[in-house]
Amino acid sequence: MSHSFEIPPRLSLAQTPTPLQPLNRLSDRFGGPRIWLKRDDLTGSVLSGNKIRKLEFILARALEQGCDTLITCGGLQSNHCRATALIGAQLGLKVCLVLRGRPDGFPDGNYLLDQLAGAEIRTYSAHTYQAELPKLLDAWADECREQGLKPWVIPTGASDSHGAWGYVQASRELQADYRQCHITPEYVVSACGSGGTLAGLFLGHQAYCPKTQVLGMAVCDDAEYFRQKVDADIDTLCRLYSIKLTPNPDQLEVNDAYIGEGYAQAGPEVFDTIRLMAATEGVVLDPVYTGKAFHGLLTELKNGRFQDCNDIVFVHTGGVFGLFPYREFLASP
Ligand SMILES: Cc1ncc(COP(=O)(O)O)c(C=O)c1O
Repeated sequence: MSHSFEIPPRLSLAQTPTPLQPLNRLSDRFGGPRIWLKRDDLTGSVLSGNKIRKLEFILARALEQGCDTLITCGGLQSNHCRATALIGAQLGLKVCLVLRGRPDGFPDGNYLLDQLAGAEIRTYSAHTYQAELPKLLDAWADECREQGLKPWVIPTGASDSHGAWGYVQASRELQADYRQCHITPEYVVSACGSGGTLAGLFLGHQAYCPKTQVLGMAVCDDAEYFRQKVDADIDTLCRLYSIKLTPNPDQLEVNDAYIGEGYAQAGPEVFDTIRLMAATEGVVLDPVYTGKAFHGLLTELKNGRFQDCNDIVFVHTGGVFGLFPYREFLASP
């Protein structure tokens, strides 16, 4: 049974539909199910990855309300902040970024692109950021209002019940992909950092492809945290948009076994997976999100977890610019 509901207005920013491609060489190498990649790293060159799908919905609302300034937050190498900085430049909006971490040396990766895009940036120590984030965002929004601007605050990772529409819409796209490729994947898998992608994928797959189980590979917080975050985002989305769909909790799984040392800390096994994917399939993953998540997926596969499956889809959520600050762990000797 598939549900249909009206998808709210969105800006057209992402290059979609993105391809769904089989990783034949990788699948031959490991045996077991065929692995497919949904190439959401190709939603754009710099306006790329999963964030841009979420921002399409969030920005449609913000512009409708007359906003002229975007305020958002994340780590120094946040993909979301980079996408927001560049889309702000494209749309002629002022962008204010509250970043966690103090830069050292030359700016690199996403942080360099934030600067190029002309975003106004304030950086804080991890401690201050963690303790005071809501206060920092509110204070900057007040400052903007005092200057006669109309600010719009976007939460971490654009992961709220509006941003989640990005992956409800992407699930509808995947439904068409699955049909075209004549597959009914047992699993669709994605990295899970702030939960919005997973919430959208889960609700969207329940609506359009309910036979496919949704698996989130956590890269920071634990499984319980993400289950609650996904439930809360879906509850709010359904209430705000009058959607009558109760997702089957058995069709969602969060795996937190591959977080390693913590957020943005990757072990040698993740860098090995990144090398393997680049050299075997010509696909570049990043150490913070996709590389960690894909390493988890491959390890589960090698351990026989998916032996009864035919097809598994991994959503490549982008993040390539986050690779470069890790060059010391990736460079050939
Ligand atoms: C490249 C990349 N992949 C995956 C994620 C995780 O998505 P979400 O924050 O929606 O869980 C993020 C952001 O957090 C990201 O930047």
